[in-house]
Amino acid sequence: MNKIVVRGGKPLSGSVEIGGSKNAALPLLFAGILTGEVCVFYALPRVSDVLITLEILRCLGARIRFAEGGAVTVDYTDIRPVLPSPTLTGAIRGSVYLLGAMLGRFGKAYLAGAGGCDFGLRPIDQHLAGFAALGAEEQTMDGVLTLSAEVLKSADITLKMPSVGATANLLMTATSAKGRTVIKNAAAEPHVGALCAFLTAAGAEIEGVDGDTLTVVGGKPLHGCSFTVIPDMIEAGTYLAAAMACGGRVTVKNTDPTHLGATLAAFDEMGATLLVGEREITLVAPDTYRGISLETGPYPALPTDLHPQLATLFAIGGRAVGEGTMNERVWQSRFRYTEELLKMGASLSVADTVLTVRPAPLHATTVRAPDLRGGVALLLAALATEGQSIITGAAVIGRGYEHLEAKLTALGADVRVIG
Ligand code: EPZ
Repeated sequence: MNKIVVRGGKPLSGSVEIGGSKNAALPLLFAGILTGEVCVFYALPRVSDVLITLEILRCLGARIRFAEGGAVTVDYTDIRPVLPSPTLTGAIRGSVYLLGAMLGRFGKAYLAGAGGCDFGLRPIDQHLAGFAALGAEEQTMDGVLTLSAEVLKSADITLKMPSVGATANLLMTATSAKGRTVIKNAAAEPHVGALCAFLTAAGAEIEGVDGDTLTVVGGKPLHGCSFTVIPDMIEAGTYLAAAMACGGRVTVKNTDPTHLGATLAAFDEMGATLLVGEREITLVAPDTYRGISLETGPYPALPTDLHPQLATLFAIGGRAVGEGTMNERVWQSRFRYTEELLKMGASLSVADTVLTVRPAPLHATTVRAPDLRGGVALLLAALATEGQSIITGAAVIGRGYEHLEAKLTALGADVRVIG
């Protein structure tokens, strides 16, 4: 997917099936290393981040089988504690999970850099502090980070911030450390809960799931299991935002509305009509909606991964009324997409962590996707704007959105993915 050609200005209507969560799938696939056996995953999204993860596992000795009906079988038996290709691990952020899984299984882990969207600094100091508490020695030489532990020991860990990655990584390693490991100020995102559920299905004992203090009773051998990836709350929020941007009525199916509390509250405050079922949400967009003040934060606050999509709604003249603000409280900076919105005629400014947006008449043009969620936000702006827009660098959008062209086309959008 190199570029997306959009003829915008059409309302959307219909329903879209939400796929498995990318950010849940990545830790799950790496956590399977801890079992040393065969695991079967259902509802794995075939997005590039997941396909790269499977390739990393294959290079480490795993055997991968795509069964009909969408199941993916991963045989982790012959995984070896070797350095995976930096080209592969450097392509995704999720490769950082190799550290927790390999350390837990082999007492050794190697990583030559993890990739991911560029939000400025993306330190892993909390991961490393937790690994040290669990008994690992850290060494970096020629750009390769090596962790090793003669014996892993349980520990009492308090994270400086509720880091999703650090929580997931330390959960994995703690399953191999005899005794009770406590992780305080843990992240409580649904995909952390999904990892706890997977590890429990594999034989681990974890207390406090979905809270901010997780306790792992480690040292129990883990075994292979089957697991269904939870629906992607960010994909669901993105399609609901598309309905707001374009007007119309969209139903997202196979979703868990309890994961989207803060997001649905935002759409409600903006003036949307929401019909919320057990596993589906319908958004009926008003002719115009209010710009409001929003702030991202750790779950259950508004997810930072929906910041660009919601902030972009405030820019759409003729749809938004009044000024909107987005206070980005998670990432050092994820405002690069705003430079591209300015090319479309947006009226906005950034001061420190706060983006202020006033509605303005947008015009179709060519813009470049800076990262996954910024890229999809530009797509929403193009969908809402009369004329032909082109989004280049669209491969980054393919990292997190499966069947994007088909799903949008089914909703009445005029989009073509090229390359
Ligand atoms: C995960 O990133 C997601 N990525 C991100 O989604 C998401 O934005 C983020 O969680 C927050 O929800 C994946 O799951 C692959 P963090 P992660 O550790 O784990 C700081 C997307 O679009 N921090 O929760 O890397 C960090 O700098 C992507 O799907 C430290 O300072 O995020 C950030 O400011 C983008 N030291 C904050 O904590 C650490 O050791 C949250 O980071 C770790 C994190």
